[in-house]
Amino acid sequence: MKKIRKAVIPAAGYGTRFLPATKATPKEMLPIVDTPTIQFIVEEALNSGIEDILIVSGHGKRAIEDHFDSAPTLEAELRKKGKLDLLAMVEETANIRIHYIRQRYMRGLGDAILCAKAFMGDEPFAVLLGDDVVYNPKKPALQQLIDVYEKTGSSVLGCQMVAEDQVSSYGIVAGESVGERLVRVTDMVEKPAKEEAPSRLAVLGRYVITPEIFELLEQTKPGKGGEIQLTDALKMLAMKQFIYAYDFEGRRYDLGDKLGFLQATIEFALRREDIGAAFRTYIKEIAHQI
Ligand code: G1P
Repeated sequence: MKKIRKAVIPAAGYGTRFLPATKATPKEMLPIVDTPTIQFIVEEALNSGIEDILIVSGHGKRAIEDHFDSAPTLEAELRKKGKLDLLAMVEETANIRIHYIRQRYMRGLGDAILCAKAFMGDEPFAVLLGDDVVYNPKKPALQQLIDVYEKTGSSVLGCQMVAEDQVSSYGIVAGESVGERLVRVTDMVEKPAKEEAPSRLAVLGRYVITPEIFELLEQTKPGKGGEIQLTDALKMLAMKQFIYAYDFEGRRYDLGDKLGFLQATIEFALRREDIGAAFRTYIKEIAHQI
């Protein structure tokens, strides 16, 4: 069985839900406290054993490349001022093996993943979506999926149950339970109306996928929203191979949603060693005043 060494992070979307902030700044660079959201995603990949990361980029996304590059002037300044902890932090982000490809036209998530075909070759790979950040200090969500892949040799979708009125925001999985937290996928629907959803088990931005997906993506016609949907290609893959849905452990934040972004900001701030205690006091006080 081939090891999961590579991951793709699609980051070409416009981020219209966060305008005007995203007019000149990639949405992936919006920070939770002080860390760009894409850095959380990259760190989860590295902490799950991923060695090479491909970011699918697009127009107006150069700040992402600069973020994961060296910054000689800044580094010299930090060194001069003796701010060595900040220097180490800045240098660390420049040492990650990140590669880039640009998606020329926004044809959907399936098309973005297809951009990774040459990079992945015939290896199984991971996909991490930037809108889903998962907090699990014990075991990253992607590592949980890789563990299932290593037992089954099959594609694995990271899922959690969502409320009935949320199913229309996600790819929804149907299948049969085959173990603890594990479902064998028999069907998938992209963003179904709640009356049509086969379950409440939603795919939440983490995937391990076998390379056979690429030829299926090439055949996938535009689906929901006129876009090439990864969900549609995965559904075809499930007819040819076993695919599993794994109900991963961890608190997941939907950064594609303003409320979700605020929840992530507040909870990550509360967990911080440097500002957490003071922020907790502030939140308690302010909640009664406003
Ligand atoms: C994408 C996928 C969807 C998945 C979701 C997870 O949708 O198409 O199947 O459930 O990510 O966040 P998006 O939110 O990019 O529209």
